[in-house]
Amino acid sequence: MCVLKIKMAFLFILTCLCFLTPTHQTPHPNVTISDLSYKNIDFAMNLYRKIAGSSDKNIFFSPLSISTSFAALLMASDGVTREEILKVLNLKQLAVDHQPELIPRLFQLLQENVAHNGSLKLDQSTALFIHQQFKVERMFTDRMKKFFHADIKTVDFADTEGSISFINEYIKQKTENKIPEMISTLDETTQLLLINSIFFQGAWQMPFSANLTENAPFYIDNYNIVQVPMMFKEEAKLYTMEDVLLGARALKLPYQKGVSMLILLPNQGVDYTVIDDEISAEKFLSWIKKLHKTNLEVNMPKFKMEQAYSLHSLLPDMGMSSLFSSSANLTGLSKDRGLTVSEVLHKAVIDVDEAGTTAAAATTIGIIPYSLPRVFTVNRPFFFFIYHEDTNSLLFMGRVVDPTQT
Ligand SMILES: *[C@@H]1O[C@H](CO)[C@@H](O)[C@H](O)[C@H]1NC(C)=O
Ligand SMILES: *[C@@H]1O[C@H](CO)[C@@H](O)[C@H](O)[C@H]1NC(C)=O
Ligand SMILES: *[C@@H]1O[C@H](CO)[C@@H](O)[C@H](O)[C@H]1NC(C)=O
Ligand SMILES: *[C@@H]1O[C@H](CO)[C@@H](O)[C@H](O)[C@H]1NC(C)=O
Repeated sequence: MCVLKIKMAFLFILTCLCFLTPTHQTPHPNVTISDLSYKNIDFAMNLYRKIAGSSDKNIFFSPLSISTSFAALLMASDGVTREEILKVLNLKQLAVDHQPELIPRLFQLLQENVAHNGSLKLDQSTALFIHQQFKVERMFTDRMKKFFHADIKTVDFADTEGSISFINEYIKQKTENKIPEMISTLDETTQLLLINSIFFQGAWQMPFSANLTENAPFYIDNYNIVQVPMMFKEEAKLYTMEDVLLGARALKLPYQKGVSMLILLPNQGVDYTVIDDEISAEKFLSWIKKLHKTNLEVNMPKFKMEQAYSLHSLLPDMGMSSLFSSSANLTGLSKDRGLTVSEVLHKAVIDVDEAGTTAAAATTIGIIPYSLPRVFTVNRPFFFFIYHEDTNSLLFMGRVVDPTQT
């Protein structure tokens, strides 16, 4: 089983390579989608720290989805603007002169691999809204469709009301009503708006039983306690690990379709903001690697979250500034002068409950009595990562400080 899986991954990588590198030119004979995943995780952790640096609230976003939308902007840009995007996204090593389609194609392969041709359903949408005065290059429109299944819509931003309802209606349809209101205000001088939204509700491999869910305290800090619906299950085959240096324990909860949630729970008395500073791609991958099977009792809060970020106000500090300034070089998108990106909005929604999307029948849980279960109780602020196992792609990451805040 395992061997077969590895073989398939290997074949897939080989196929990608043949597809990616023309025989006469082999600049990166060893680029794989795993390299891309790793680079995306690094970017995700940097972005996470940027967000966490100015917020003590819940955090939730989709790194893969954000990286993918900037890969789309990469096709629009040139000169310094392009260099900055490559640098901040960690993609410099993958950029090759005269092969503008290489990075978009890698992202496309990664997305396809994660989606397993549609069996994992992520209600995801990326769209560019551009002021009607700009003429969009045909080649850009074609590539957006081909690699990113993304639309470009022309809007008259001077009509703010009309634009807002047009944009909201578009996103609502694309996310099957999961995100009914993406934006509520809009600047009438907007030229270009990139909106990326994603909804996730996975089905657990082993669902929690709804009648075991009970209200229980969640300790936000020493002074604030909230009551939350706490789900419960006992399972003989759960994977955990302890990061002693960091002072935290990790637990893997598998969803169906090759995706898992990794929960990182700081030990009692360890301040989560200390862990904020320590999170990195390397650490994340080492937690996954060190997981071992155990018999566990899990107590975990049910929660819903909906978070939106204005990336145009976070990314300049990370080194991506020209895109949002008058020196933006977006000649790949439009030859018209003076075009800049006004806003990049990202919204991610998650629903964590007993079952997930498929209402699972009350599963009887095979309890193996040879060892007393250890207990993993998520009753204080924690981190979570939802990742695709075969590629280690980080689909989502978040921090829950207060599960009662959506
Ligand atoms: C490709 O291989 C070379 C030499 O083996 C190595 O130095 C380089 O880091 C590799 N590149 C990637 C992207 O893995
Ligand atoms: C964009 O960048 C390219 C490559 O550096 C350069 O040739 C072109 O003049 C730039 N265009 C604008 C509008 O800055
Ligand atoms: C995905 O679907 C397409 C068309 O339905 C098919 O040609 C392709 O082989 C499928 N790929 C995988 C990995 O299943
Ligand atoms: C949960 O409730 C259902 C219906 O009330 C019942 O049939 C089932 O046995 C219960 N399961 C557990 C684990 O208590």
